[in-house]
Amino acid sequence: MSKKFYITTPIYYPSASPHLGHAYCTTLCDIVARGKRMRGFDVYFLTGLDEHGEKIEDNAKAAGVTPQEFVDGVAVKFLNLWKLMGITNDDFIRTTQPRHWQTVQKIFSRFLKQGDVYLGSYKGWYCVHEESYWTETQVGENHLCPECGRPCERKEEPAYFFRCDKYVPDLLKYYGDNPSFITPEGRKAEMINNFIKPGLNDLCVSRTTFDWGIPVKEAEGHVVYVWLDALTNYISALGYLQDDDSKFRKYWLDPGCEIVHVIGADITRFHTIYWPMFLEALGLRKPNRVFVHGLMMMKDGKMSKSRGNTVYAEPLCERYGVDAVRYYLASEITFGQDGRFTPEDFVARINTDLANNLGNLLNRTVSMIVKYFDGVIPTYEGELNDLDKGLRETAEKTIESYEAFNDDLKVTEAYASVMEMVSAANKYIEQSAPWALAKNPAKKGELASCMAHLASIIFLAGELLSPILITKSGKIFDQLGVPEAMRDYETATKLTAISGLKVAKGEQLFPRLDDKAEIEYIQRLMAAPKEKATA
Ligand code: MSP
Repeated sequence: MSKKFYITTPIYYPSASPHLGHAYCTTLCDIVARGKRMRGFDVYFLTGLDEHGEKIEDNAKAAGVTPQEFVDGVAVKFLNLWKLMGITNDDFIRTTQPRHWQTVQKIFSRFLKQGDVYLGSYKGWYCVHEESYWTETQVGENHLCPECGRPCERKEEPAYFFRCDKYVPDLLKYYGDNPSFITPEGRKAEMINNFIKPGLNDLCVSRTTFDWGIPVKEAEGHVVYVWLDALTNYISALGYLQDDDSKFRKYWLDPGCEIVHVIGADITRFHTIYWPMFLEALGLRKPNRVFVHGLMMMKDGKMSKSRGNTVYAEPLCERYGVDAVRYYLASEITFGQDGRFTPEDFVARINTDLANNLGNLLNRTVSMIVKYFDGVIPTYEGELNDLDKGLRETAEKTIESYEAFNDDLKVTEAYASVMEMVSAANKYIEQSAPWALAKNPAKKGELASCMAHLASIIFLAGELLSPILITKSGKIFDQLGVPEAMRDYETATKLTAISGLKVAKGEQLFPRLDDKAEIEYIQRLMAAPKEKATA
C-alpha cells in the first residue's frame, strides 16, 4: 500500500486577483505534491478560497454587486491562474459551498453542547483588514493593528467565545512531542513567547456586526467568525460530518497519512494555536506539520495588493513559459525564508540554471550522440573509469538527498541538488573530453561509456525536475528518445544505461534570455497600473 500524504495551501481571500505571492505558495505545494506522486505516494492536494467576512462584504458593496457575485467573479481568476500554472489540486474548496457550511455549523453546535463555546460580550480593538480583535496593549497608543499596521476601531458586540485555557496544556504537550509540527522551528518559540506565555484570551468565534458569513444556527444574528470558518476547510473538504466521509477517513483519520498545512508566516498563529485546539476539542488528530514559508517581498516591503507593489504570474508565464516561472519560484526564494522579487534575479536564474546549465548539457549531449553514434545511445562494456564512477556516485547521492529533502519539504534544496548534479555532468564532459576520445579508435569504448552515462544522467535530471518543469521535462525525454512507458521515477533512478534509444535533436529548450531587454520588460510590467481591489 502506498504511503498517504495530504497537503493543503491556505484558502485565499478572493478580495482581488491573485498575485505572484499567492502563486508562490500554491506552486510550491504543487511541486511537493507532484514530487510525492512521482515517488509513488497516494497524495491528496487541496486548495481553495476563504469567501466570507467583513472585508469581502465591503469590497462587494464598493463594486456594486452581492458578496456571492463578487466572490464568484474572483474565484474564476484563481481557477484560471491555477490552470495556467499547471496546479494539480484534487479539490477546490470554497467556504460558501453548502458542504462546508454543513460541517462548520455542526462543529459550532458541538462546541456549544460541549461547553467549549459560551456567550459573552466582546469589547476590543478590531482590525477589519486582518479580521482580528486586539487588546489594548497590542494596539498601543496609536491603536494600530500589530499585524498590518492599519488603524483599529473600538468595537463591542455580543459574541460567542471559545475557551482556550482548557486546551493549552495539550497544545504545549503536542509541541513537545512533535518537534517538527511547526517548521521552521524558530516559529514555535515565537508562538510560545508572544502568544501562549502572556496568556491566551478566549477566542471570539462569532460576529453580529455583519452578515456575510455562516449563520450560527443556535443564535440569530450571529455568523461564525471567519477563522473558525476558514480553518475548518481542511476537514470539510474531506467530508467531515457529511454523508460521504470516505476521504476524511482515508486522509485524516488514518494515522498513517501524513498531513501537512503549508502557510505564509502571517497566519502562523491561527494554524499552530487555535486550529490544534479546535481539533482537540473535536477529538481529532492534529496535522503532522504546519510548514511556514516566508513572504515574497518587493523593494518596498511585502508584495501585497494594498501596497500596490504586486507582480502577476500571468504575463511572466506568457513570456517565459510556465516552467520558467515555476522554476524561479522554487529555486530563488528558499522555501521557509523570506525572499525578494527582482527582475534581475528572475532573468539570471533562468539563464544560469536552465539555459546555461541544463539546456547546455542536453544540447551538447544530444549533438555528440548524433555526431559520434549516428544518434543511437551507445552500449558500453568493460571497466568504468574514475570519472564515470564519480558521476554515478554523484547521481546516487542526488537521488538520496532529493528524497530526503522532498520528505522534509525542503523544495529549494531538493532542486538545487539536482542542478548540482547537472553541473557535475557538464564538468564531466570537460574532464572526459569526448572530442579527444573520438579521435582515437582505441578509446571508442570509453567514448560510448561517456555518452551512455550522460544520457542516463539527463534522463534522471528530467525525471527529478518534472514536478517543476511540467512541460519541458517531456521535451527532454523526447530529445533523448525515451518512450512514454519508460518515463517514470523507478526507471530513471535505476541509472541503468538507456542504450539503444534514438535521440532526436529538437529545438533549444531553454534559449538564453537577453538580460538587458528582459529586465526592462519585467520592470515595465511592475510599473504597469494595477487593477483596483474589485472583481
Ligand atoms: N484567508 C486567509 C487564510 C485562511 S487559511 C485557513 C488568508 N488569506 S490571504 O489571501 O490573505 O493569504 C493567503 C496566503 O497567501 C497566506 O499564507 C499568505 O501568507 C500568502 N501570501 C499573501 N501575500 C504573500 C506574499 N507576498 N508572499 C508569499 N505569500 C503571500 O490569510
